Amino acid sequence: MHWDFQQLQDAARQEIESVTDAHSLESFRLKYLGKKGLVADIFLSLASASAAEKGAIGKGANDLRHLVTALITDKQKKVSSQQRPGSHRIDVTMPGAVPNLGHRHILTQTTEEICQVFEKLGFVLEEGPEVETEFNNFTGLNIPIDHPSRDAFDTFYLQASDLTAKGRKLLLRSHTSPGQVRVMTAHKPPLAVIIPGRVYRPDAVDASHSFMFHQIEGLLVDKNIKFSDLKGLLTEFCRRFFGPSVKMRFRPHYFPFTEPSAEVDIAADIFKGTSRKPWLEILGCGMVNPKVFAVAGYPPGIYTGLAFGMGVERMAMLRHGIRDIRMFYENDVRFLNQF
Ligand code: DAH
Repeated sequence: MHWDFQQLQDAARQEIESVTDAHSLESFRLKYLGKKGLVADIFLSLASASAAEKGAIGKGANDLRHLVTALITDKQKKVSSQQRPGSHRIDVTMPGAVPNLGHRHILTQTTEEICQVFEKLGFVLEEGPEVETEFNNFTGLNIPIDHPSRDAFDTFYLQASDLTAKGRKLLLRSHTSPGQVRVMTAHKPPLAVIIPGRVYRPDAVDASHSFMFHQIEGLLVDKNIKFSDLKGLLTEFCRRFFGPSVKMRFRPHYFPFTEPSAEVDIAADIFKGTSRKPWLEILGCGMVNPKVFAVAGYPPGIYTGLAFGMGVERMAMLRHGIRDIRMFYENDVRFLNQF
């Protein structure tokens, strides 16, 4: 039998053009490469071919088979990409693209942890605004008009004045203590609150100062609250937060809104071998000054209260051995991811 291989190849090339889907591609494959397909027929014809013809027929059949196989492979790619637009083979065993999961900032974690300790002790969480009146930040807390902290060098004053409060000056709160004035003017004793938040002071930035940092204010007012309650509460807090072997000390101090007042220091092992002092101050505290009760309109002589304000950055530094406050705000993930 005579085969015109050139014509068969041309026909195959032409036919593949009209193949547009998997179904017609399979028909094409069967027609040429199937058990009863053309290539098989050609090989079968070898039996009746003369010895001289055999070589050419065998080569022609093989060439045709290779051509058709190549045409099919090529078409398969087009057909499958048409069937599932935009799709390609997915290797389900490949590791997926894992999105970078964020987590709460170390200062948020520390704030929450501190608040939780006090919440377990019965304190309620309150919040105050970062933009405060000069009254709540200073006057209501018995901070006299000539007190150095009122100076513009120590407080960020805003150009705008408080329209709701007869043109009183506004500022970025320099501590969370104005929360005390807000809570006491809104609520009668007994009360126990903690007020976390950001505070602002125009300090020059260095390893232990920032123009913005975080504090947590605490206030407990009732009948018969004593200085020993303040000491006991803060000692218990420090044991829960830093562990039972924490070394702390109360040091007499002065604040206009508490009388008497103290500061609490924690033994700072993190500064061992540096020129920095071995104790780090973490909070100011005291017994609420009766003058502040008067601002809130509480009747004199009935209530006593304890108050404290602690620095969150310092708590985190002591807890985790961080020596430089600037690291909290640089947003370097190599630092942040450690917590
Ligand atoms: N507000 C003070 C400060 O930022 C800290 C403080 C001291 C808060 C004594 C208090 C307190 O509640 O009783 O330095």
